[in-house]
Amino acid sequence: NVTKEFIVGIPKAELHVHLEGTLEPELKLELAKKNGIDIGQKTIEEVRQSYEFDSLTSFLGVYYPAMEVLQKEEDFYLLAMDYLKKAKDNNVKYAELFFDPQAHTSRGVPFADVINGYYRAAKDGVALGVESHLIMCFLRDMSQESAIETYEQMLPYGDKIIGIGLDSDERKNPPKKFADVFARAKEDGFNITMHCDIDQENSIEHIRQALLEIGVQRIDHGTNILEDAKLVEYAKENGIGFTCCPVSNSFVTEDMKGKEILELLHKGLKVTVNSDDPAYFQSYISDDMYVLATKYNLEKKDIIQLAKNSFEIAWIPAEKKNEYI
Ligand code: HPA
Ligand code: ZN
Repeated sequence: NVTKEFIVGIPKAELHVHLEGTLEPELKLELAKKNGIDIGQKTIEEVRQSYEFDSLTSFLGVYYPAMEVLQKEEDFYLLAMDYLKKAKDNNVKYAELFFDPQAHTSRGVPFADVINGYYRAAKDGVALGVESHLIMCFLRDMSQESAIETYEQMLPYGDKIIGIGLDSDERKNPPKKFADVFARAKEDGFNITMHCDIDQENSIEHIRQALLEIGVQRIDHGTNILEDAKLVEYAKENGIGFTCCPVSNSFVTEDMKGKEILELLHKGLKVTVNSDDPAYFQSYISDDMYVLATKYNLEKKDIIQLAKNSFEIAWIPAEKKNEYI
């Protein structure tokens, strides 16, 4: 049997964590006070109680308003630093961190403050023993025009970004809505991933578009791919990475999709386990792995495979991968 110590101890990469999803109640209250914002909650318990949701839509309804406490460059720095300390405790050696600039620029926060704060933390994280890089996500419930505007705001900071993603509300927001901006990002040499959340409307069609029309290297979540054997074969042949998040799944669908995660893993697909929004789901990466391991009787070799996959599908230059695997 796999112990928590074994899971915590194994060196790992985390590839699916939203920096805005690492906002713990303590920091939320601290930033609200610092920035003079009345968030309507005064204690950690009150903040926790506001973290209530049972679907992707209701989760996002709590998640985005919480971000108003993030105002200054330093706030973004503190948020990312808090995560990197947790990453160190989980023996995460390498992390790729999603962030949602539009959730901040739409409130009047300068793009520069968001990226400079996060990037400064990523650099300081190296002293903790955690290498990390930023993945900029577009909000899929905003327009492609807004995504293009955001992409152009990012370009002067292009060397601070390792890839581009797509997140937020999936309903009526298929990958192909963003075909132009992702084609441009690919041409400019950025790595590409996209959320295809669990059990969303048209999930398998979104997965098909992401793989065959956009040409993503990874899919975030994506276990619905099992509905189409041909796409499973395609993903296997092309080494497509899957960044699965069992505890997040259990919040938005009441099913951690452990059976599906393991089926894909045992079929030889590049499956990984990640935390998604750890402050909201109260589960960091080792907790996610442990919940999956205990509920589905994983063996040590499964945990080792998950950790190995995490470095394999990470956007680390091939020659540097040897340091980790
Ligand atoms: N799906 C979509 N948007 C998100 C998620 C997610 O899992 N987490 C944070 N934003
Ligand atoms: Zn996510």
